[in-house]
Amino acid sequence: MPNKIIIKKKIKSFNKIITVSGDKSISIRWVLLSSLANGISVGKNLLKSEDVLAAIKSIKRLGIRVKLKKNLCKIYGKGIDGYNYKKNLIIDAENSGTLGRLIIGLLINSKNPIKLIGDKSLSKRDFKRVTDPLSKFGATFKLKKNKNLPLTIVGSKNLKSIKYKETLGSAQCKSSIIFGAMRADGSTIIKAKKSRDHTELLCKYLKLPVRTNKKKNFDIIEIQKVKKIPNLNYNIPSDISSSAFFLALTVLSKNSKLIIKNVNINPTRTGIITIFKKMGVKIDFKNKKTYKGEKIADIKVESTKKLNSIICPTYLNSAAIDEFLIVFLVAAKAKGISYFRNLSELNKKESPRLRIGSKILNQLGIRTITTNNSIKIFGNPNLKINKKIIIKNYLKDHRIFMTSVIAALSFGGYWEIHDRESYKTSFPNFLEIINKLKKW
Ligand code: S3P
Repeated sequence: MPNKIIIKKKIKSFNKIITVSGDKSISIRWVLLSSLANGISVGKNLLKSEDVLAAIKSIKRLGIRVKLKKNLCKIYGKGIDGYNYKKNLIIDAENSGTLGRLIIGLLINSKNPIKLIGDKSLSKRDFKRVTDPLSKFGATFKLKKNKNLPLTIVGSKNLKSIKYKETLGSAQCKSSIIFGAMRADGSTIIKAKKSRDHTELLCKYLKLPVRTNKKKNFDIIEIQKVKKIPNLNYNIPSDISSSAFFLALTVLSKNSKLIIKNVNINPTRTGIITIFKKMGVKIDFKNKKTYKGEKIADIKVESTKKLNSIICPTYLNSAAIDEFLIVFLVAAKAKGISYFRNLSELNKKESPRLRIGSKILNQLGIRTITTNNSIKIFGNPNLKINKKIIIKNYLKDHRIFMTSVIAALSFGGYWEIHDRESYKTSFPNFLEIINKLKKW
């Protein structure tokens, strides 16, 4: 199969009910926590994307048995100290920042040094943001250029609790420190800028000694050493970040309606819904329920003829962090100038998304003013493309690939999008769902 996809036609109107794959953040956390549980944990609807498969490969290398069948995953945990591995172990986090950063926290008590590696994109990303706080517990790290992968973890058996202020609003950092603190004597306290709280909710459900005190702008999290993790059977809800591509496709298409079933609508993840509502999109939650501490609903959305521009409030940045590329695309069709700021974190993702996102909008003929941490988008409600657009050299960033496919289907033109397999990092049935909605 050629390693690119060609799209030459806009999508026709559709009215469908779909289900997208399982949530990536919850899937990775479930794999990691189950690997340290006592007994067998059964996961249903686990996301089987490359990032999650990398997490499974990693726990297998740590001596944990895993059985993966169609819709079921069984992890045979051997307890909190159950990892068992040979000297010179190498763990490959591949493309996954979440896996790479979270797993280090669990390994700060390792008896032999462990090397962590990743692919080209992950090797460009900052790991000092987790090794700095984790060193305070008493572990030692060696990093390439003092901040990148490959890195070596030299664990300690004498870990002491810490006090830490997490200022990036990064759930990966926060979760890595929570995992580290589970291994340390005493009581660790993290003052964390708001970010997704799946780790805290899973710990709460498991009755682990991890307590969160939510304040307006930050959370105080207190963690004691964990002695035992009970097994965790879990039915993973669908991913709002994967849903986002189809929400945008519906908004940008003519006379279309879509329902996405059983999506995780944890308020720390629903920034895109608030942003879309502010832009005039008709979008609602149906059949709301709570499952093991997480909020879930069906999302109903309709095409929107008149899109308003938005000055995006910065308090929404963390809750929409993975959705900005697709939000920029919707802003490209809005009336007026949209403005997104304080977004330096966006250039630290799988690719520099602020920079590449802005370049793609320019290819569409949309004017942007972009700095290191902000973007102004001069929307065009009549946006139509009649030329050839080539998308390549984007570090195989899955969200760039999927955003480009949605742009092609929404605005027309002749699109040649390279690195066709990129979407499999987070959303293996993305193209399958596209094909269900297309009638050509
Ligand atoms: C994630 C946290 C976010 C997000 C990433 C997944 C997680 O990263 O961008 O896709 O599962 O914790 P940061 O925590 O670095 O903001």
